Amino acid sequence: MIEVDLNAVRIPLDWEELFGSPMPVDVEIGSGKGRFLLELARAHPDRGFLGVERAAKYHRMVCERAAKRGLANVRQLRTTAEDLLFRLLPPASVATLYVLFPDPWPKKRHHKRRLMRADVVEAMGRALVPGGRLLVKTDHPDYAEVIAEVLGDAEGLEAIPAEPAFEGLPLTGFETRYIREGRPITAFALRKPSPQERPAERDGEP
Ligand SMILES: C[S@@+](CC[C@H](N)C(=O)[O-])C[C@H]1O[C@@H](n2cnc3c(N)ncnc32)[C@H](O)[C@@H]1O
Repeated sequence: MIEVDLNAVRIPLDWEELFGSPMPVDVEIGSGKGRFLLELARAHPDRGFLGVERAAKYHRMVCERAAKRGLANVRQLRTTAEDLLFRLLPPASVATLYVLFPDPWPKKRHHKRRLMRADVVEAMGRALVPGGRLLVKTDHPDYAEVIAEVLGDAEGLEAIPAEPAFEGLPLTGFETRYIREGRPITAFALRKPSPQERPAERDGEP
């Protein structure tokens, strides 16, 4: 079943229950019409892909397209990013988290609706497996500055070079349009180091 029915599955989500066998799982928040998610899923049948989308129309579209293409490794969930991050995801469970072209909410009075906030990024960090990645793109220069600041302050996530991190990944639906329109695109890549990689914190040392 491609569509995840939250009334019929364990919460927090259990990948083995959802995908039928253990496999690394990548999550796309705001999957839109699914161009990115479905292409990636076709290229990596050994991984699970969960798309999360709050708009019913796009959610249905992804479910239908995944079914039509026979993609057994795709699951689609209709909910908000916040519900996913603060209620549904088990800690240390996601291999790669994609947030591609989140709504920029350009008007100042709407800035509070933006997804990339400190508490949300903290929850994204919790959801990643050690060694897992958070990959983000935006076409909006002002939002890019805000994202850079929030990600720069994120504890437990380290910045890695974005270009190689995105290499070989499909374009999203919005991205193809933005490239055509010549809009600037800013990409961010972060990695969650494993506990062994983190510098030891020793009490009492200056
Ligand atoms: C600008 S579109 C980008 C879609 C796709 N990632 C792309 O690049 O083509 C943003 C998408 O995120 C969804 N969205 C916005 N806020 C969301 C939220 N809080 N939770 C889940 N989806 C959200 C919207 O419905 C929309 O489909």
